[in-house]
Amino acid sequence: MGKRKKVYGTIIEKMEIVEAGAKGKCIGRHDGKVVFVPFAAPGDIADVMLVRSRKNYSEGFLREIHVQSPDRTDPRCKHFGDCGGCKWQHLNYPSQSEMKSKQVADNFRKIAGLEPEMQPVIASEKEYYYRNKLEFSFSDLKWIVDKNNDENEEMRALGYHISQRFDKILHIEECHLQPEYSNTIRNTVYQTALEQNLTFFNRKTHEGLLRNIIIRNNIENHWMVSLVVKENNNDVRNFLEKLKEKLPDVRSWIYIVNDKRNDSMDGLDYKVFDGPSFLEERMEHLRFEVGPLSFYQTNHDQACELYKKTRELAGLTGKETVYDLYTGTGTIALFVAPNAKKVVGIEYVDDAIANANSNAEKNNVENCVYYCGDLAKTLTEKFISENGQPDVIITDPPRSGMHPDVVQQILKASPDKIVYVSCNSATQARDVEMMKDQYKVAYLQAVDMFPQTHHVESIALLKRI
Ligand SMILES: C[S@@+](CC[C@H](N)C(=O)[O-])C[C@H]1O[C@@H](n2cnc3c(N)ncnc32)[C@H](O)[C@@H]1O
Repeated sequence: MGKRKKVYGTIIEKMEIVEAGAKGKCIGRHDGKVVFVPFAAPGDIADVMLVRSRKNYSEGFLREIHVQSPDRTDPRCKHFGDCGGCKWQHLNYPSQSEMKSKQVADNFRKIAGLEPEMQPVIASEKEYYYRNKLEFSFSDLKWIVDKNNDENEEMRALGYHISQRFDKILHIEECHLQPEYSNTIRNTVYQTALEQNLTFFNRKTHEGLLRNIIIRNNIENHWMVSLVVKENNNDVRNFLEKLKEKLPDVRSWIYIVNDKRNDSMDGLDYKVFDGPSFLEERMEHLRFEVGPLSFYQTNHDQACELYKKTRELAGLTGKETVYDLYTGTGTIALFVAPNAKKVVGIEYVDDAIANANSNAEKNNVENCVYYCGDLAKTLTEKFISENGQPDVIITDPPRSGMHPDVVQQILKASPDKIVYVSCNSATQARDVEMMKDQYKVAYLQAVDMFPQTHHVESIALLKRI
């Protein structure tokens, strides 16, 4: 076996950054390979230090930019570059949304072998302050950015995980993704925790009282704060009492006890300390109750645009049986229900199905039925014969896309149209490839739900050939 050439530290001078690539990194070329470079912009000419080389690609970091891309802009956040989120703040927003559209087109070309015409991206009106939910973690040992930090510096932190590290928390002083009051809440929670000398969680030893806070707001700017603690005791009650006094604009104070080793909320229950147990959200004529643990799309305005487009592409006349696969809390089902004969939603989280049923009741919708179960096992011929042949299937799977059995079952059901909503166009293209002999892509569009990040939703209309 030949010796692998060491590349770490090699500087490639004046490399041209040519386009955006996977996971938000940009691409240059060297030695016949693509080089992935984070925080670069297409059009930059820069010195790049290589850190890794694989068979088909290399990875590197920007050392010096000689010519700045015209797509560059000044990042708004002081944590840019250190924090794991918002990796595209250095790109102006029109370039971000065009790059997202290109990412969807590239995936369809490379993975599905298709070149459908891309419709213009549905960009977000809000470039910042668009989220209605953020989650921060406490840590007794913060991630240090400044190597010359003062030895008396406070080491407890409340912030975000750094990229791909579950145990490293960057202390956050500002974040521009949720309306500004979110910063006041987080910073007040942090200061008060220090004043009361409460212990912060350590993800290796699993000791420490304070674990996470989840800050939610609705379109009327009502605020809910859920505090996740390792155990419930008098310190928690005194802490919440003090926070309530300092933050009078928070309507709901919730606490959740998590004594598991990981931060996942699965299987946890919540208790209301003060205020209502839910926020009410509105979309067109619909109202939804969003509880502390319920899923709700985090960019409300863009979710509304996405659902409107889904309804338009479904092109319903009132006579159709529609299946809404991966229905979550049933929002898409409720959105299209007035234009359909019947909507059948399937989802495997029972709490989400409970929310879906109560949302249908709250909105007086009587033509939706929801089933709880894993799609791969639930969507069978028997299920279809009991619930009716679908004329239209709407599907909105998680990032991993649809199970191959689900794709096969959809092909057997053979609806006239499939509206495929996706948060990962690579798996969407993979699934579409399996259907391309029976369905043609009649419409494809990127919808930007997450400005300043490389994440993008895409929506495809497939018509039976
Ligand atoms: C991207 S979300 C879509 C939710 C919903 N359409 C909305 O817009 O709010 C995907 C949903 O699929 C559900 N899910 C994931 N894997 C599933 C499976 N194998 N069977 C059924 N539901 C699943 C998740 O719990 C989640 O609610």
